[in-house]
Amino acid sequence: MYTSRISGLGSYVPENVVTNDDLSKIIDTNDAWIQERTGIKERRHIKKGDGNSTSVMGVKAAKIAIERANLTNDDIDLIIFATLSPDLYFPGGGVRVQDMMGMKTIPALDVRNQCSGFVYALSVGDQFIKTGMYKNILIIGSEHHSGGLDMTTRGRAVSVIFGDGAGAAVLSRNEKEDNSGILSTHLHSEGAHAKELFLEAPSMDLWVPEIIEKNDQEDIPYYPYMNGQFVFKNAVVRFSEVINEGLQANNLSAGNIDMLIPHQANLRISQFVQKQFKLADDRVYNNIQQYGNTTAASIPIALTEAWEEGKIKDGDIVVLAAFGSGFTWGSAIIRW
Ligand code: UT7
Repeated sequence: MYTSRISGLGSYVPENVVTNDDLSKIIDTNDAWIQERTGIKERRHIKKGDGNSTSVMGVKAAKIAIERANLTNDDIDLIIFATLSPDLYFPGGGVRVQDMMGMKTIPALDVRNQCSGFVYALSVGDQFIKTGMYKNILIIGSEHHSGGLDMTTRGRAVSVIFGDGAGAAVLSRNEKEDNSGILSTHLHSEGAHAKELFLEAPSMDLWVPEIIEKNDQEDIPYYPYMNGQFVFKNAVVRFSEVINEGLQANNLSAGNIDMLIPHQANLRISQFVQKQFKLADDRVYNNIQQYGNTTAASIPIALTEAWEEGKIKDGDIVVLAAFGSGFTWGSAIIRW
């Protein structure tokens, strides 16, 4: 059986910076509340007409990742695209990437696992490489949240948190004769809590004529709903569980973690997990301060930046962990 390794990483965020003070001009919120409760200082938002979309941002990140992997588009055997904010309800973003990048008629798979999307996608890609079916897989996590948020005081508990951006990784068959690469992945779900963090419309739960009928009413559920405290409480438990699961599966302990890249949900959640595993500050990477929560894009953006800053070296044990809507959660243990 083969093993897989990440051979290239890339990220892209829109130029438009939206600070907490910017938001406080349109929403009843303030910099102190946002920073204290989430750690976020600013995030990026697409500007209407700037040419960006979920797929476009994904392509921008992907181009960098493929170049850094020393590959060309023709070397890619499969696209896996993770997002909760696809350009179109259907078809998914993967086929748009295939088209925009002028790729051959390779398969394109969409993953709908929200904040855990990148870890799920990595796990799926890893299986295809292990069996020998594919050699190079492009994995993208990309989100355009800003165009779908309630930018009024009513939506403030959700809208101040999310940002736009994309990250990408090329997963390749590991040609190195050492024990590096993806060591294991661990995935979970608990659909009983699907409606604690969800978007109701558009959907086929609300039939289209029903949506049209509701259109002239105030209360159209087009904006995401989140039971913040409930999600928070579940997140801290599941993050710890799934990191432990990954460590145990590889006979590792917390002391072996060189870099933890948690999904950037809330700085307080990351700090809680850091404390639980007694990790020094330089062993946990956080950039939620600059980008907010970019859902499926958050781990690949953070992983790319950590790697660019030289914080991940060959042989390091890197742990990715995510939790989010679904609920879904997962981890990946990597020896770099
Ligand atoms: O990535 C997917 C997974 N998502 C998460 O993991 C998110 C998990 N949850 C959270 O991060 C936190 O629950 C939030 C950051 C969303 C909210 O923080 P919180 O400490 O749980 O606040 P809260 O919802 O309990 O609200 C506390 C107060 C309320 O006012 P009252 O009722 O105490 O008067 C809210 O109305 O803060 C108010 N509030 C705000 N005030 C200023 C809510 N949002 C805002 C805001 N600015 N943006």
